[in-house]
Amino acid sequence: MHTEFRRAVLPREIRSLMAFDGKVFPPADRFTAAHWREYTAYWMLVDHHKVGCCAFMQHVDFREDRQDLNPPKPGSLYITTTGIHPEYQGLGYGQLLKAWEIAYAYRHGFTRIVTNTRKNNKRMIELNRQFGFRRVRTTPNYYAGPTDCTVVMELAL
Ligand SMILES: CC(C)(COP(=O)(O)OP(=O)(O)OC[C@H]1O[C@@H](n2cnc3c(N)ncnc32)[C@H](O)[C@@H]1OP(=O)(O)O)[C@@H](O)C(=O)NCCC(=O)NCCS
Repeated sequence: MHTEFRRAVLPREIRSLMAFDGKVFPPADRFTAAHWREYTAYWMLVDHHKVGCCAFMQHVDFREDRQDLNPPKPGSLYITTTGIHPEYQGLGYGQLLKAWEIAYAYRHGFTRIVTNTRKNNKRMIELNRQFGFRRVRTTPNYYAGPTDCTVVMELAL
């Protein structure tokens, strides 16, 4: 099995990222092209198949649940998305991608990771917990379609 983490080439691969997002997330949770332009995105390729995708904002805090913008924060890596293609879920690839995200953060000198997810996304919350993330806060009514809280989690490195 050959596994590779490859940086997505932007803006060339935006359509491809949006197509992948469309397979992984419900419509209300998908990112727009404008979002993808702001992110640093990586593919997880297994035997050249797009199995996973994740994206970051570097030196940024997640505060969008409390104010309009995510402010700059030196040393903070905001993971905006972590997704495994439905055909490959439940096989350990989520753990592999999460481990790589943490390695990426260490490798690039970040001192903390912050991320957020739907409160009803038990898989993602459990996955983050397995890797030592702790819950920082839960903010009601962050998501629409369906309405849900967002759970903000962080990992100090
Ligand atoms: C969340 C997600 C990334 C997990 O990836 P995955 O490859 O399916 O997960 P893994 O097989 O690596 O399992 C990791 C852990 O997730 C949890 N998990 C996996 N499948 C699960 C299931 N069916 N029910 C409950 N928990 C589950 C478990 O804690 C598991 O660890 P364990 O096997 O040691 O118990 C993936 O399911 C996904 O992309 N979901 C849709 C997108 C999403 O919601 N992303 C998060 C928001 S940013």
